[in-house]
Amino acid sequence: MLIKKTADLRYSEVTPKSIYLNRRKFLAGVPAAFLGARELLAPSARAQAGAKLPDLVKSPFSTTEKANSYNDVTHYNNFYEFGTGKQQPAQNATNFKTSPWTVSIEGDVAKPRKFSIDEIMKLAPLEERIYRHRCVEAWSIVVPWAGYSLSVLLKQVEPGPKARYVAFESYWDLRQMPLARPELTGIALPYVEGLRLDEAMHPLALLCVGMYGEALPPQDGAPVRLVVPWKYGFKSIKSIVKIKLVASQPPTTWNLANAHEYGFYSNVNPQVDHPRWSQATERRLPSLFQNHPTQMFNGYASEVASLYAGMDLKKNY
Ligand code: MTE
Repeated sequence: MLIKKTADLRYSEVTPKSIYLNRRKFLAGVPAAFLGARELLAPSARAQAGAKLPDLVKSPFSTTEKANSYNDVTHYNNFYEFGTGKQQPAQNATNFKTSPWTVSIEGDVAKPRKFSIDEIMKLAPLEERIYRHRCVEAWSIVVPWAGYSLSVLLKQVEPGPKARYVAFESYWDLRQMPLARPELTGIALPYVEGLRLDEAMHPLALLCVGMYGEALPPQDGAPVRLVVPWKYGFKSIKSIVKIKLVASQPPTTWNLANAHEYGFYSNVNPQVDHPRWSQATERRLPSLFQNHPTQMFNGYASEVASLYAGMDLKKNY
């Protein structure tokens, strides 16, 4: 796969096509004189792909490593519902309609409810968290995400005594995602993921609504996704519509597809190779070479290793 190196652009200088398209759709029919007020008041305006996210709070969890360019992060994606090629999500998700959007939280919780994307955006101050993001395919990127700890949302519904795991489900609609058929993607859909409750409550687990100071673009999981920085990228489920607190370990998409290669935990671990390739090094995009040693828990060991004390991480891969 050839990766084009593009000059780094500041994110204020980059305006993906999707923003123009969404903006045009959003503004259609609004008299010019009212545009300012309407834009401010319209539901989900803050969640529209590309909308600026003002007042981001800097996070102590951020790495000091240099962030990738916006172009790197938005043109080399895994989002199988929009095609299995790395450039396909950027091309095919352009018109993904993410408004209105709700996330239903159910299962063993005292207060099950649906949150609109606006409610999610306003639940807590949005933080900018610059995380390393390590894909199981041995490439990595550094991304300034925006969001807050997933625990903030989970606490709202009050997890019950039987809740030991959290199951997540992505949006799935063939009308919006004509390529999202199991025979084309090779995976069962809707895309599902899971975490142990203590992993989900760990402050590093990010409920993410933006990147580069803007609401998420469609190919990166608009309008709301997970980012679990100590795990391989596939745990970071995109475009979430359902979260369920459950007693037993939930199924996960890649484990269903190939349990031998993809476990439930999927913690980044340079000592446990993928059956078909080494995980000892990684290719930091846009490089074509394995130019970085992979770190245990993707460099977040001091924060998360205690979650796995006493576990055999070769068995629990
Ligand atoms: N979520 C959904 N719904 N569908 C997917 O195909 N791919 C996963 C994860 N979340 C995927 C998904 C994989 S394999 C990776 S590596 C990351 O998203 C990629 O996130 P990024 O494109 O923002 O880098």
